[in-house]
Amino acid sequence: MELAQGGAGRCGAWVQETNYTRLCNTKSILTVNGLFPGPTITARRGDTVIVDVINNGNHNITIHWHGVKQPRNPWSDGPEFVTQCPIQPGGNFSQTVLLSDEEGTLWWHAHSDWSRATVYGLFVILPRLGTTYPFRQPDEEVPVLLGEWWQADIQTVMENFLESGGDPAISDALTINGQPGDLYNCSASGTTKIKVDQGKTYLLRMVNAGMNNLMFFGIANHSLTVVGSDGAYTKPLVSNYITIAPGQTIDLLFEANQPNNRYYVAAKLFNGQPASRFQNSTTTAIIEYSGNYTPSNPLIVPSLPASNDRNASFNFTSSLRSLASAEHPIDVPLTIKRTLFYTLSINAIPCAANETCEAIRNTSRFAASINNITFDMPSSSVLQAYYRGVSSGVYGDDFPDNPPLKFNYTQASGLNATLRLPTVGTEVTLLKHNHTVELVFQGTNLVAGVDHPMHLHGHSFYVVGSGFGNYKRSRDAPNYNLVDPPHMQTIAVPQNGWTAIRFKADNPGVWFMHCHFERHVSWGMGMVFIVRNGKASNDKVLPPPADMPPC
Ligand code: C2O
Ligand code: CU
Repeated sequence: MELAQGGAGRCGAWVQETNYTRLCNTKSILTVNGLFPGPTITARRGDTVIVDVINNGNHNITIHWHGVKQPRNPWSDGPEFVTQCPIQPGGNFSQTVLLSDEEGTLWWHAHSDWSRATVYGLFVILPRLGTTYPFRQPDEEVPVLLGEWWQADIQTVMENFLESGGDPAISDALTINGQPGDLYNCSASGTTKIKVDQGKTYLLRMVNAGMNNLMFFGIANHSLTVVGSDGAYTKPLVSNYITIAPGQTIDLLFEANQPNNRYYVAAKLFNGQPASRFQNSTTTAIIEYSGNYTPSNPLIVPSLPASNDRNASFNFTSSLRSLASAEHPIDVPLTIKRTLFYTLSINAIPCAANETCEAIRNTSRFAASINNITFDMPSSSVLQAYYRGVSSGVYGDDFPDNPPLKFNYTQASGLNATLRLPTVGTEVTLLKHNHTVELVFQGTNLVAGVDHPMHLHGHSFYVVGSGFGNYKRSRDAPNYNLVDPPHMQTIAVPQNGWTAIRFKADNPGVWFMHCHFERHVSWGMGMVFIVRNGKASNDKVLPPPADMPPC
């Protein structure tokens, strides 16, 4: 799916079962075009790309272009039952991917069930012809896709977890470009090798395509310069490590300026919640300098922050800044029409008398919520219902602007167990066209406080502030960064903390917003924004394509 550079392109994505061997075992996984990770799409800023998705697999599937705003075209966005019904085995759907102001690295992935565990790839958006990067031209570009691998069939992992009501089985490995690396069984020969030449500069195009983990990443003895995230440029940020949330992309430069040798590149999880069971191993790739030398043995491993170092994670993420230059200006809303405050919680629903469930000493099923509503995924498309004007039986428009229950959200312990119970429903928030929105996400310590990588479809937002503890408007709003806040689509709301974002609802359509931890979105940590049409004819949702998959 490597497209010719420049201009519109068209390519085919054949979803199929393919055998792959990892960790000494072979299993069949869903892939696109037989590749794991999937093929890279390359386009230029402002291009339109048409992808013919053909489902030759034996699962329903949808594909999402993560971070592409798709102006007025939610039809091709991809989240199952939000904007479309799935493409059934034997079916196909031509998705029109409309690029606008995105530039840098994005990615694409399956957006139905847990298929994105293996169905994902990079989406590279080069500058327009005649323009260049706002940093020194790198000598080479290197894809770095972080992921997770399960030995078991991913559909089975998902079904067992939904059935049990408890936590999902943890993955058996973290991966770099689909490979666990030297530190795992049977994996050394496949380890990703990145060949470099002394003195050259490399642009790493990174995504965390992992399902359930934030990760720390670094290269032994080399410093990293972050220059972009989520398809927008950032001020150069020099660091020895990065934190990357599932869904997030990061563009970074590194210079091959160390003695000729081989060096480990490594990623491991970040999770501030020591109590939970998480994938606790390290995935590696190798930077290999060209030339004749005897490499160190063993290779040098990068020193990354401790797995539960939430300050290290927060400090990195809160240091990102927009470029905010003449060529790459920002447009952060300064006056706000709609103010929203959303709590993010892990919940527990008591299990029925005839059921056995694994959560909270076998008494409950885990759930998750935004403003105490556990999103109940409909079985037909919200977009279709909205477009036809028949929402009844599919969704309601009563999503609350503020938490229905107010309490000390981040209290260390002793939160009343009755607060854990959510309501279950399919509620949307309607936004007027071009209204400016401020949304404060507040993590809570119900059941267990953890980071939540929140992702919004159809828009990028400016991250204007964040902190630990309870948000306090009188104290926190005056400290917002309105000068050069980063322009993102996925932001890790810190554990027992808050993040404030601003955006303009300038994209008419139906847009999912959810936590990018797969276990949390499966538990219901999602909601839908419907941005109304504007008055002008080019401020309205486009008509649906003729080949929308049937519901
Ligand atoms: Cu990367 Cu709704 O997804
Ligand atoms: Cu979450």
